[in-house]
Amino acid sequence: MNASLWIELAPIDRLDGELIVAEVLGKDRAFLHAHPEYNIKKKELEKIHALVNRRKLGEPLAYILGHKEFYDRDFKVTSSTLIPRPETEALITEIINLRPQTILDVGTGSGCIAITLAKELPEAEITAVDISEDALNVARENAKTYQADIDFRQSDLLKNLAKTEKYDLIVANLPYVDANWDWLGTEISFEPKNALYAKDGGLEFIKKLIDQAPDHLNPDACLVLEADITQHQEIIKYAQRTGSFSCAKKGDENSALALVLQLR
Ligand SMILES: C[S@@+](CC[C@H](N)C(=O)[O-])C[C@H]1O[C@@H](n2cnc3c(N)ncnc32)[C@H](O)[C@@H]1O
Repeated sequence: MNASLWIELAPIDRLDGELIVAEVLGKDRAFLHAHPEYNIKKKELEKIHALVNRRKLGEPLAYILGHKEFYDRDFKVTSSTLIPRPETEALITEIINLRPQTILDVGTGSGCIAITLAKELPEAEITAVDISEDALNVARENAKTYQADIDFRQSDLLKNLAKTEKYDLIVANLPYVDANWDWLGTEISFEPKNALYAKDGGLEFIKKLIDQAPDHLNPDACLVLEADITQHQEIIKYAQRTGSFSCAKKGDENSALALVLQLR
């Protein structure tokens, strides 16, 4: 590799730098290590320069590369979608164990939850909604890539569902960030605000979903939510007060953010 390349990459994390170079060359990281003699062309170096500059300004690597891995599959992401997080994979593990036949994913974003479930539970029928048409378009593209048969629809929470529609399980990773939390990194400023923030200490959408979900759940069905661990107790109290749910499982060190509410 040209010496100028390493000078170029020096200000950013080494792994990020290698992933950017690999993306521009259309190779994987193993190729970079196996071919130190590879002579990077001027055009490639210019592209690397532009992407490294974006990273230096704090833009998340997933937006720069245009994709992010989730549960061993690669998902397209754009500035209209949240970047899938590894902690959300705990929801998938919970749901696989429950083996529901019909699933609704609320706030599907890139479609990472719905599509992963479609591949891991091929017998299940899956519907996914989001308020954002732009996010839904990305989710549809991802579903096409993985040939996942999912019914995607635009809806504000469950408002656009037919009254008769019922599911064995509703899963939701809705916005739950309280704008006052001071421990958030700077990278989330690049992500869509309507995918992150919620009023009422971050619980506005989760509480609304708890109110709406019972009308769309089959007997013995579950509502699986992601929320910050500090919010779990309040969510459980709220869900119990509605009289519709009991807590089947709350977050712990292993499935930290996944909360399972069981319909009474
Ligand atoms: C935290 S992101 C989760 C995206 C994806 N499910 C994931 O786990 O990576 C929340 C998603 O909820 C969507 N959303 C926000 N408010 C909504 C609402 N009222 N009804 C439906 N979807 C909503 C956002 O557009 C965003 O795609």
